[in-house]
Amino acid sequence: MSRPLVIAPSILSADFASLGAEVRAIEDAGADWVHFDVMDGHFVPNLTIGPGVAAAIRPHVRTKLDVHLMISPVDAYLGDFAEAGADTITVHAEAGPHLYRSLQHIKSLGKRAGVALNPGTPPDAIDYVLDLVDLVLVMTVNPGFGGQDFIPAMLGKISAVHAKVGDRPIDIEVDGGITPLTAPLVVAAGANALVAGSYIFKDGPSTYGDMIGALKNAAASR
Ligand code: DX5
Ligand code: ZN
Repeated sequence: MSRPLVIAPSILSADFASLGAEVRAIEDAGADWVHFDVMDGHFVPNLTIGPGVAAAIRPHVRTKLDVHLMISPVDAYLGDFAEAGADTITVHAEAGPHLYRSLQHIKSLGKRAGVALNPGTPPDAIDYVLDLVDLVLVMTVNPGFGGQDFIPAMLGKISAVHAKVGDRPIDIEVDGGITPLTAPLVVAAGANALVAGSYIFKDGPSTYGDMIGALKNAAASR
């Protein structure tokens, strides 16, 4: 099946003092979703933003709020992110022993459910949750920080996930090190939703349209 290309800027690299304006600027520049990275200093070695910030920016989001939870345990916070206005809530397969339960919980909240795989996690981790998920996120860097280098070995994992997903209406998202150089590679392997942080935000709002356009062109050129 052909899945629509999605560019999802990660606001981890935005100006945190102006998040509402940043969200409006990336959407005006052609962003398809707003990617929201939550880190707890435990599952990953960094601390970022939580449901209060998600609720604060929600009125500025006209597209979709794509929440990536890099936290463990995760279950106790799912309701808070649903209430804050997340459209998709993605949890890590490695975040706890009850992935299936976490995904059922997200679905019961009426939200799209995503499962994320760390670089060291095999694609088989999605085998028994495929009927519950709307999105599979293949991490193309170690989660925790923006601005890291893409891990080329993840191309094989994207292809494996693509084969497993088959014709199901499931987005295949990649996150980490996405630039016009890596975008065609991940799209050729089967990804359709591209998260990009440092590449899009590095030169400020006047260039967001150019950066998003360059990613779209590169993805289309594969
Ligand atoms: C990493 C985050 C990413 C990050 C991507 O743990 O999940 O969303 O912001 O940043 P870049 O595009 O700079 O690799
Ligand atoms: Zn992310």
